[in-house]
Amino acid sequence: MKAIINNTAKVEQETIIVGVPEHLNQLEAIKIGEEDLKDLLSPLKEHQVFSTNVGTISTTFFKVEEKAHKLITVGLGNTKELGYNDYLKIFGNLFQALNSSRITEASLLFNSFKSQKVEKEIIAEILGQQSEQSIYHFDGYKTNKSAPYQLTLEIHTEEDDIAKSIENGEAIATAVNLARDYGNIPPNILTPAYYAELIENQFNDTNVFVDIKDDETLQKEGFGLIHAVGKGSKNGPRVITLTYNGGKPGENPIALVGKGITYDSGGYSIKSKTGMQTMKFDMCGSANVIGMIEAARQLALPLNIVGIIAAAENMVNEEAMKPDDVYTALSGESVEVLNTDAEGRLVLGDAVFYANQFQPNIILDFATLTGAAVAALGEDKAAVFNQNAEDTLKSILGQAEIMDEKVFELPITATEQALIRKSEVADLVNHTNGQGKALFAATFINHFAGNTPHLHFDIAGPATTNKPSYKGPAGPTGYLISTIVQWLRNQ
Ligand code: BES
Ligand code: MN
Ligand code: ZN
Repeated sequence: MKAIINNTAKVEQETIIVGVPEHLNQLEAIKIGEEDLKDLLSPLKEHQVFSTNVGTISTTFFKVEEKAHKLITVGLGNTKELGYNDYLKIFGNLFQALNSSRITEASLLFNSFKSQKVEKEIIAEILGQQSEQSIYHFDGYKTNKSAPYQLTLEIHTEEDDIAKSIENGEAIATAVNLARDYGNIPPNILTPAYYAELIENQFNDTNVFVDIKDDETLQKEGFGLIHAVGKGSKNGPRVITLTYNGGKPGENPIALVGKGITYDSGGYSIKSKTGMQTMKFDMCGSANVIGMIEAARQLALPLNIVGIIAAAENMVNEEAMKPDDVYTALSGESVEVLNTDAEGRLVLGDAVFYANQFQPNIILDFATLTGAAVAALGEDKAAVFNQNAEDTLKSILGQAEIMDEKVFELPITATEQALIRKSEVADLVNHTNGQGKALFAATFINHFAGNTPHLHFDIAGPATTNKPSYKGPAGPTGYLISTIVQWLRNQ
């Protein structure tokens, strides 16, 4: 979107966009030219030409100073009750409607969207974010691509400072859409090597430094678990390290670790034919980490961040790991593999251990890790597991609630800590036949974080959606990018 702040009441555009509360007296005094917006809207309201239900879009025609205009209204309901999520809906529906009717120029009366509980800067940020995020679409592999669409929006308000907020919102949307793009690339194309190359190109000429460890290097340096998962495919694994140093030199970083399984067939513990569908999305945790770092860079956050991406393809060839194998982790411990489909915890074990070498203040990892987390919480909620990071957990949960990204805590207990050691032959084992599989997996990963504060996010459910909404289309969602970026901004 191209946003132009206009601090006059003069509206040249044919299309005018206004927010309409249930009670027009909740509107502040707004002029269009010499006319009063409330007076213009009153007769239309009387004849129920538009709906004031939150997020409902209506289109009509009205005359302002003898000139005909197209009027697009967005319902605001009772503005006293509007929260963050309502604005996501309001602007998501608006930009999706503008996009589907291919409106490329319009004037938006910003002050008509104001309300009591949400600050104008936040409203402007959501506007910016939804102008890009809600209309995301991916047709990279279709012959008939949709024509490029660019909206120029003249935003009428005397509040000049909202331009920066709109820009910040757009930066977050760019990050979410970038993560969605990675998720949507078919797995025959997005191999670990190509993924690494794309990431390298993405941050070329930026202040994010990208380091790639190839197959050979990983083996040589002792990433035994990542190697074990990756060797079942001719498309070998990669570990990609992103370093963003926006903070003070020498200040300990925040580590963000992502599961980047570019395809999860299950390996010899092979998935069913329907279970395997959509397993190209098994790299979404890592894509979201890239999105978080991209947003941090664009927002120039004064923090040091290290991102570790464990990319591998979980396949079946004669080299592939098999149940009963034992491998040596980067930590030096031996791990018995009882189920090759429990590959996420293996690659993350090494990746989290590696992340810890950067002496981070905290490690956060993001992974489409277990079907069990989906069974426990449903498809629309993430599970989070905490070790030594109560305060961070509290602030992230608070932020997630505001931003309507649902996250609930599940425990790591002594039961699981004993279970991950229950191997006849090795120090650790990657699988239990018992219940509580999401907890087991989380505990396995946490083991490799040592005493460093650690939060593990199992996003197997909400990393993708099959329901289009005002947040965007079906497919990858960029889950938790908004929440984590907001938390990072508060650090
Ligand atoms: N990538 C899957 C988890 C998954 C399942 C993500 C469904 C999204 C939707 C993971 O690698 C996996 O296969 N987990 C197994 C673990 C089991 C073998 C202990 C699972 O959850 O079934
Ligand atoms: Mn698996
Ligand atoms: Zn997996």
